[in-house]
Amino acid sequence: MSQEVRGVIARTKGEPVSLETIIVPDPGPGEAVVAVQACGVCHTDLHYREGGINDDFPFLLGHEAAGTVESVGEGVTNVAPGDYVILNWRAVCGNCRACKRGQPQYCFDTHNASQKMTLADGTELSPALGIGAFCDKTLVHSGQCTTVDPAAPPSVAGLLGCGVMAGIGAAINTGGVTRGQSVAVFGCGGVGDAAIIGARLAGASKIIAVDIDDRKLEWAQGFGATHTCNSTTTDPVEFIRSVTDGNGADVCIEAIGRPEVYRQCFEARDLAGTVVLVGVPNPEMTVELPYIEVFGRGGALKSSWYGDCLPERDFPMLIDLYLQGRLDLGGFVTETIGLEDVEAAFHKMEAGEVLRSVVELA
Ligand SMILES: NC(=O)c1ccc[n+]([C@@H]2O[C@H](COP(=O)([O-])OP(=O)(O)OC[C@H]3O[C@@H](n4cnc5c(N)ncnc54)[C@H](O)[C@@H]3O)[C@@H](O)[C@H]2O)c1
Ligand SMILES: [Zn+2]
Ligand SMILES: [Zn+2]
Repeated sequence: MSQEVRGVIARTKGEPVSLETIIVPDPGPGEAVVAVQACGVCHTDLHYREGGINDDFPFLLGHEAAGTVESVGEGVTNVAPGDYVILNWRAVCGNCRACKRGQPQYCFDTHNASQKMTLADGTELSPALGIGAFCDKTLVHSGQCTTVDPAAPPSVAGLLGCGVMAGIGAAINTGGVTRGQSVAVFGCGGVGDAAIIGARLAGASKIIAVDIDDRKLEWAQGFGATHTCNSTTTDPVEFIRSVTDGNGADVCIEAIGRPEVYRQCFEARDLAGTVVLVGVPNPEMTVELPYIEVFGRGGALKSSWYGDCLPERDFPMLIDLYLQGRLDLGGFVTETIGLEDVEAAFHKMEAGEVLRSVVELA
């Protein structure tokens, strides 16, 4: 029997989201229905609403979530009803050319549910990042469920499902930050602050936070930034050189998605250093770089999808660090809200008032 639940829908580009009745089918082969307990508001949800990802409206938003498996379809063996899970958007296929060459973190054919959730009139929904979790219950592929220790509450565990994992992984996996390195993080929202935590966990000795908002810089310090730079008043490239003996940072992480900031990362990087783009640009943006410098500075210009994570490997490890008090996931949660408050949370995000608003469900 399919179920009727509440879900947060973006129907039209740029228009406020609405809370509507959605239909969640019973899980088919390989699928699971998950009762969502908490779901963070990520900037990518806002990108979807703004039409910045694609035009497949209406979207069921939300993708940074933890919950309990309610039911599973035929052939599902990795999870069972009652399991406590974080939802992931990288259920690797094992068969594509990336998986076959031993790089499943780049999987080009990740699994999502094959059935569609719909509006009450039957209109098919596009779930954000193949998840859709601003709703009481959601339908996913069973591989999108990663079991973790239930001692970690849903409001913090869910954050690993997107932004925090993306940031930590951008530093540790994509950027390959190691002990003693200097790391500059541009954009200190949820993703950027997680990159700061990742750099700190990896043993970086200098962590330079850049933002346009002093409040964000203060929070960044709390997560481990050793230096801060407000780029509206101080040139970040010069500042980063000044605190790295004139050299630039070993790893520069762009956690916003803006071409002018990418250029700053490119210029603030030491010779043979690494730029990591984890912010998501919109389709109209272009970037222009001096070609001779692309060659002359050497190193690597990399992009980080989901922090190059493998959920089965990384989520339980990060939950362990959280439970040991070594990973401050609680520090990301500025407020907990209801499903009806997501539109207001977008405004607070735009105004820089929150790191994460987290929707909590009964
Ligand atoms: N690559 C991935 O897998 C992945 C995963 C999750 C999110 N993202 C993307 O990461 C980005 C950040 O997400 P978030 O949830 O942290 O967003 P956020 O809105 O919470 O944070 C963005 C931060 O950037 C700052 N900022 C804005 N313009 C700036 C500028 N010109 N210079 C310096 N700082 C500036 C803001 O003040 C804010 O602190 C978004 O583009 C999001 O879509 C990517
Ligand atoms: Zn694959
Ligand atoms: Zn996200």
